[in-house]
Amino acid sequence: MPGVFNLSVDEAVKEVREAHSLGVLSVILFGLPQKKDEIATGAWANDGIVQQAARAIKREVPDAILMGDVCLCEYMSHGHCGIVEAAPQSLGAAVASPPAATTEYEIVNDATLELLARTSVSLARAGIDIIAPSDMMDGRVAAIRKGLDEAGLANTPILSYAAKFASGFYGPFREAADSAPQFGDRRSYQMDGANIREAMREIELDLEEGADMIMVKPAMPYLDVIAAARERFDVPLAAYQVSGEYAMIEAAARNNWIDRERVMMESLLSIRRAGASIILTYYAKEAARLLG
Ligand code: PBG
Ligand code: ZN
Repeated sequence: MPGVFNLSVDEAVKEVREAHSLGVLSVILFGLPQKKDEIATGAWANDGIVQQAARAIKREVPDAILMGDVCLCEYMSHGHCGIVEAAPQSLGAAVASPPAATTEYEIVNDATLELLARTSVSLARAGIDIIAPSDMMDGRVAAIRKGLDEAGLANTPILSYAAKFASGFYGPFREAADSAPQFGDRRSYQMDGANIREAMREIELDLEEGADMIMVKPAMPYLDVIAAARERFDVPLAAYQVSGEYAMIEAAARNNWIDRERVMMESLLSIRRAGASIILTYYAKEAARLLG
């Protein structure tokens, strides 16, 4: 991720201040904890790294609108987005030669919801303005909404990564966050890129559960999904131009194969044209500079 860095809390404050002065009024925070475990303690701990950063940023740049990515993978030793348990023994497992341990696991959906709600409440209390769940567990928007409401945070909105596809384009992020799954993959909870009707259904469910805004991710390989969602749902629609999309443009530009600024702006234009009202992008500061 050339040009993108993991920041300490004081560096993050400076970064937000600079972005804000360029007209980037909102930022999303991701955390990289010192220690990872099997219950994602770093995600929901009061002194978690994102909680610390949110408090510091709100103190120094009070007008910044802070989004918090809610997921457990960056905080889990195994790198999955939910709680992992050994799968129940299947019939015949005793007679078959034992499969590799890595194939015998299950993501425990409902137990994960509790941690996601706890994380969301903790982030909102630390000053995160918008809760953005990216884990893709079933029922998480409802669980988070309930958790926030019960904590007296009924006014904290939810931006749901409603259509998040299992994608090769997350590679650079996972390397940076050291969050690649140690076994298996995310296909059991992230979505199938071949199925746009399922994507529409997932968005609809998230809205029914109380999402205030929805997101499609990645952006450029899924412009048709953005356009279809724009047609169908009359809510703020975000699109996330992810790390691999950024990395592709950067790599080609470094080889002098493309005009970097031109392609960067054209890529953002395409996402806007498809219908996104909010764009999450690693190019936010640069684009703001050019647009300003
Ligand atoms: C956490 C999460 C990921 C990204 C955002 N939130 C990684 C993943 O799902 O593996 C990817 C962002 C990017 O590639 O820029 N679930
Ligand atoms: Zn995750």
